[in-house]
Amino acid sequence: MKRVFSGMRPTGRLHYGHMAGALTNWLALQETHECYYSIVDWHALMSDYADPSNLAEHVTDALLDWLAVGLDPNKCAIFIQSRVKEHIELHMALSMIAPLGWLERNPTYKEQILNLQNKDLSTYGFLGYPVLMAADILLYKSNQVPVGEDQTAHLEISRELARRFNNFYGEVFPEPEMLLTRYPKIPGTDGRKMSKSYGNALEIADEMPVIDKKIRTMMTDPARERRTDPGEPNKCPVWDLHKFFNPDKEEMNELAEGCRTAGIGCIDCKKKLIAHVAVNMAPVHERRKYFEARAGELNDILNEGARKARARASETMEEVCRAVGMTRAGA
Ligand code: TRP
Repeated sequence: MKRVFSGMRPTGRLHYGHMAGALTNWLALQETHECYYSIVDWHALMSDYADPSNLAEHVTDALLDWLAVGLDPNKCAIFIQSRVKEHIELHMALSMIAPLGWLERNPTYKEQILNLQNKDLSTYGFLGYPVLMAADILLYKSNQVPVGEDQTAHLEISRELARRFNNFYGEVFPEPEMLLTRYPKIPGTDGRKMSKSYGNALEIADEMPVIDKKIRTMMTDPARERRTDPGEPNKCPVWDLHKFFNPDKEEMNELAEGCRTAGIGCIDCKKKLIAHVAVNMAPVHERRKYFEARAGELNDILNEGARKARARASETMEEVCRAVGMTRAGA
């Protein structure tokens, strides 16, 4: 079975963008691949080292959202990066061979240093972000890595580090392939890309009354100012959500027609959307509530996930240590 690794930094509650994008793909892969899904808390610390006060809460939120959407600990390994120490061990080994030039030229690095000016990211740790990411992936000899387009440069560095390691020390790592899956467009309530920092997100944990309110005040085709103005669904963010949540083609046609002829108002269209979201999200909310009330079960899931991950990870580290001429402690 092919192996898959993917990770997410714990940054708080996840939203519909994460669900429609990354998590839907992860769900499909857990059925057919040996999957390792990790909440990468060391990565979170690389950019948020100055204030880790919310880290534990963010880890729990990510875990609850993952389980809520249906990641199944019986089908994949779900674990916290820092609890599998081999990540750090391989990170160290790879850092020896990671050329500074690759890291300094990494476009994501340059962009973040510029954009996040309220944080001092000129640290040794942050420069090594892609090295730790490579360690995450290579530790499981992953064949495929489902990620968004924004991770292309990072994944390229992972592949190059795998090649470089193999050149120096012998064939140990397969070159991981990027699994770039097409994401449906999920705009936020203001029509921009859904993002927590924009305050426009529909969160997986939001109960229906909250979602109801968010959708009712959501932006629509800006050209449709009055109820009597005709609108264009393809310019409407509510329509993008319909495309994701609404399985009823006939209703969709009626809504589009009604919009274009001003036969229906935006609120009519939004009410239909809310009904479909409610149906889709009911089992998700139910699972989230179930796990929220069961801290013990969450612990068991994380312990079991770490155990499965460690089993693979320590095999790889044995090989890595042998390849560079070390005897691994505890081996
Ligand atoms: N850098 C990824 C992101 O910001 C998170 C991540 C860390 C990751 N390690 C990984 C993703 C390994 C895939 C594989 O989204």
